[in-house]
Amino acid sequence: MDWGMKNRLSQLIQSDGRCLFLPVDHGYFQGPTRRLENPRETLEPILPYADAIFITRGILRSCVDPDRAKPIILRVSGGVSVIGKDLAHEGITTCIEEAIRLNVCAVGISIFVGTDYEHDSLLNLAKLVDEGERYGIPVMAVTAVGRELEKRDARYLALACRIAAELGARVVKTYYCENFEKVTGGCPVPIVMAGGPKVDSEYQVFQFVYDGIQKGAIGVNLGRNIWQNDHPVAMIRALRAIIHESATPEMAQDIYDGIRAGKR
Ligand code: 5RP
Repeated sequence: MDWGMKNRLSQLIQSDGRCLFLPVDHGYFQGPTRRLENPRETLEPILPYADAIFITRGILRSCVDPDRAKPIILRVSGGVSVIGKDLAHEGITTCIEEAIRLNVCAVGISIFVGTDYEHDSLLNLAKLVDEGERYGIPVMAVTAVGRELEKRDARYLALACRIAAELGARVVKTYYCENFEKVTGGCPVPIVMAGGPKVDSEYQVFQFVYDGIQKGAIGVNLGRNIWQNDHPVAMIRALRAIIHESATPEMAQDIYDGIRAGKR
């Protein structure tokens, strides 16, 4: 592997082989999502605990100071909105020169396997991989499900992740699901887990992150279940403990409760 590619990946995936990516890219199709209305304010307290952030160029430039940034994964696909016709109809929104100018550690793109735009999104991924490899920039593929959350089963996600790896993604982001080992087992590149819409209890998040890691994920790319939580710092620190310190869900819950109560 080329030095630049290796160097960028090692800034994202820590020396223990694990990672906590913090996505704040949701506005590119959702607009000012709840608790991400002001990304600078949302990021400020939790940024120190993230290994990298997943973000668009507009929010990076306007809301993250270059002298205080974390490694960047640049969201480079989009062109759709939640009120438009089809969330799967994304294109590449940001060129590779911009990624280089912004000194990013990776670029991220969604793929929409099984939709009317499957072919376009997969060719977009392949083209981005060609460009990324030329400059030593890894590509993270996001196995997107749009509004069809029920698609989050092992059969579908294993298919989507494997295709992303076959097309050259260096990291794949997907969802945790039942029989998750079938997803990781069929994907030869590292997998990170997204959270999806906020769930009712913190413990549920700790549980699936812990299980996912036992079953082969290297970490998370998890947003709303951190920054939509009433105690985002407690949440991200508890998740860090699972990812980087092998804490169990019970230990993570203790950490969360302790920080929330001001005892840590
Ligand atoms: C949204 C994304 C997010 O990066 C991804 O879904 C992770 O965020 P969350 O944990 O909130 O689902 O790709 O476009």
